[in-house]
Amino acid sequence: MDSPPPLLRIRDLKVSFRRHDAPPTQAVKGVSLDLAQGESIAIVGESGSGKSATALALARLLPEPPAMITASELGIAGHDVLGMSASGLRKVRGKEIAYVFQEPTTSLNPVLTVRTQVGESLALHRPEVKDRDAEILHWLQKVGITEPEKRLRAYPHELSGGMQQRVMIAMALCCHPKLLVADEPTTALDVTIQKQIMELLAGLRRDLGMSLILITHNFGIIRDVADRVAVMFRGQIVETGPTEEVLSRPQHPYTRALLDCVPKMGARQARLRTIDHAALEALGA
Ligand SMILES: Nc1ncnc2c1ncn2[C@@H]1O[C@H](COP(=O)(O)OP(=O)(O)O)[C@@H](O)[C@H]1O
Ligand SMILES: [Mg+2]
Repeated sequence: MDSPPPLLRIRDLKVSFRRHDAPPTQAVKGVSLDLAQGESIAIVGESGSGKSATALALARLLPEPPAMITASELGIAGHDVLGMSASGLRKVRGKEIAYVFQEPTTSLNPVLTVRTQVGESLALHRPEVKDRDAEILHWLQKVGITEPEKRLRAYPHELSGGMQQRVMIAMALCCHPKLLVADEPTTALDVTIQKQIMELLAGLRRDLGMSLILITHNFGIIRDVADRVAVMFRGQIVETGPTEEVLSRPQHPYTRALLDCVPKMGARQARLRTIDHAALEALGA
């Protein structure tokens, strides 16, 4: 019997950005990846390695031009994303794949209440929901927002950064996406809140049977969240495998260099080492 197709199937994805007076920037240089329903993967790599460009290309969220996206295959839940019309893409976004970004303040509309923003998301993707307020309350509770009735009427500036990010997660998840892409979702938050948000995402993913792509430049936070890791370096995946395996037996010199940058637990005033690219090149990375 044939096994069911993976939820996400990427083959030879390339993303470049056109520039006026120079050759295009090649941000993603042939990424291939499969993700099964319910599976979670962390995409790890330093800033500029092409993580966000990869993630945004999945739902064609990059304006084309200046972006140019090609792939021999780009499928989400059986939809051929590259061959889709604009209206087809709008249905895939939110319903099949949803995003949570780094800065909740830039993603939330400052002049709309929590109720209006989550409500709009629901109205668009689950118009069949009759009692919208009850559904919004349900999700606010699920993402750990205290006093949800009160928060319903709040504007973004009345909430802390951590609460704003919880609202973003509620907005994404209330549409029942099959895949959530969280692009550095905790980078703007302080360390204790980062941990809470990561635990929240891990728990919701398990409860909902949802797939998760977690993008991060921080190796330290992925152990409890990701089944697998893909390490990106200069637009390519240089290593991929089960999280525990990659963390304990990294094969690629770049992965080892990244792991060396993770401050060791308990080390006081741990300084982040920067990666020595010249040394990596000498190793043939
Ligand atoms: N909108 C854009 N226009 C031009 N270049 C871009 C754009 N977005 C990203 N890039 C370039 O693509 C490369 C990868 O960026 P990005 O995917 O954002 O990296 P990461 O998320 O890993 O930090 C970088 O060289 C970046 O400068
Ligand atoms: Mg990024």
